[in-house]
Amino acid sequence: MAQDTVATVHVPAKVNLFLAVQGLRADGYHELVTILQTVWLRDRVRVAASPGLRNRHPSLREVVVVFDHDRVDGVPHDGDNLCVRAAHRFLDHLGLDVVAADPFAPVRLGRPDTPTLHVRLDKDIPVAAGMAGGSADAAATLLAINDVLEAGLDRSEVQELAADLGSDVPFCVSGGTALATGTGTATAQVLCRGEFHWVIGMSSEPLATPEVYAQWDRLPDGFEMHPDQVLQAVRTGDAELLGASLHNDLQAAAFRLRPDLADGVDQFLVDGALGSIVSGSGPTVVALAADAAHAHELAGLAADRFDRVEVAKSPAGGPSIRRE
Ligand code: C5P
Repeated sequence: MAQDTVATVHVPAKVNLFLAVQGLRADGYHELVTILQTVWLRDRVRVAASPGLRNRHPSLREVVVVFDHDRVDGVPHDGDNLCVRAAHRFLDHLGLDVVAADPFAPVRLGRPDTPTLHVRLDKDIPVAAGMAGGSADAAATLLAINDVLEAGLDRSEVQELAADLGSDVPFCVSGGTALATGTGTATAQVLCRGEFHWVIGMSSEPLATPEVYAQWDRLPDGFEMHPDQVLQAVRTGDAELLGASLHNDLQAAAFRLRPDLADGVDQFLVDGALGSIVSGSGPTVVALAADAAHAHELAGLAADRFDRVEVAKSPAGGPSIRRE
């Protein structure tokens, strides 16, 4: 019997080194200027396509998508999951209808000869944490499907599909270090020399991104911030300058919803971090260390203050695709 074609994508999380919200748009989204960088904390997406899908006949109309994951709390396993939405988006682009199947259900949906796309997600990136975990999973799914189906989309075409799935998804397709504008979907790579050492303080109580933006809407206008210093710091690999210039306009909004996060940031600074900030819409707090040993020292001091603490380097490059 012919084998499935399988691709595995490892995809990194992100931190926002700089995030300025420039205002509310007519469509309800916010205009942003942000600098994103990948960190070495990765999810894994494995996609298996049955032979009938890889050698798809022009008459093929329907695909069964089966999705499962390692059941990390808070990860939906239905059509709300960004992996499933990404699979729908890609197959729709190819003119195929999707029959979604629950792997835990006793009956398989679709006709017996309908080809299957199996998407499996294993998570290490925290859920709803401001580290683009869901967006990374969506990006990985698009890249894995492009590979197993030999669909031949180039990176910018994958990024176009990605923009329909969420603001951070186009960045997650390319990774590295990027300046993003608009709602966050227009990205341009920026030069980064050297590497940075982070301590990542995670909370098991998620924060919903729309609620953080809604809080931002209620805050008084702040100063308009520019990313020049952060760009210079990453261009020259200057950790001290980066620590001093980290900025996130959503931080004050996240603090209103979760006052404990302010203590998390303050304590990292008291402990000697070069800088500390809420990542994206939170609740993850990141602290920049001078080097790997310093990061481990800060992580040891922070161990009791968060539900999970990791040490990770950045940048982490982009998604890696491996055909099995
Ligand atoms: O695009 P994404 O799914 O990541 O966005 C989640 C939510 O965050 C949106 O529904 C919106 O409420 C808010 N958001 C925003 N402006 C942005 C990005 C996200 O208001 N630029």
